[in-house]
Amino acid sequence: MKAYLTRRYMFSASHRLHSKGMSDAENRETYGKCNNPHGHGHNYSLEVTVSGQVQSATGMVCNRMELDDFVGREILQKFDIQNLNLLPQFVDDVPTTENLCIALYDILQRGFTGAHLERVRLEETMMNSFEYAGGAEIRP
Ligand code: NI
Repeated sequence: MKAYLTRRYMFSASHRLHSKGMSDAENRETYGKCNNPHGHGHNYSLEVTVSGQVQSATGMVCNRMELDDFVGREILQKFDIQNLNLLPQFVDDVPTTENLCIALYDILQRGFTGAHLERVRLEETMMNSFEYAGGAEIRP
């Protein structure tokens, strides 16, 4: 019996959408006000969904404390109250919600062993969210 657990986490970070592969004018045209040189902030809502068998001994798919510990240590401590543009994940990539979602999935996929990772969903604003369940090229 496969079951799913989704857990929600909150963090705040700033970013500026600016691609090194485009001119300043192209960046302004592509990203509009999100290309503002001083950046801007978001309160991100991160949903992590894991799956597995409900273990008979614990009645759980995944030990939530293990998941919370991992996300706290590997994601919240590293991304909360940060300028995303300055993080190692975004030396070459623009910190869009899409790329941030993929980066967070990658961290969980590589490091979290407590259950099978199904997907990551990231809300940037009330109007805007992105989901990722693997499949894009994972950078080395
Ligand atoms: Ni933004």
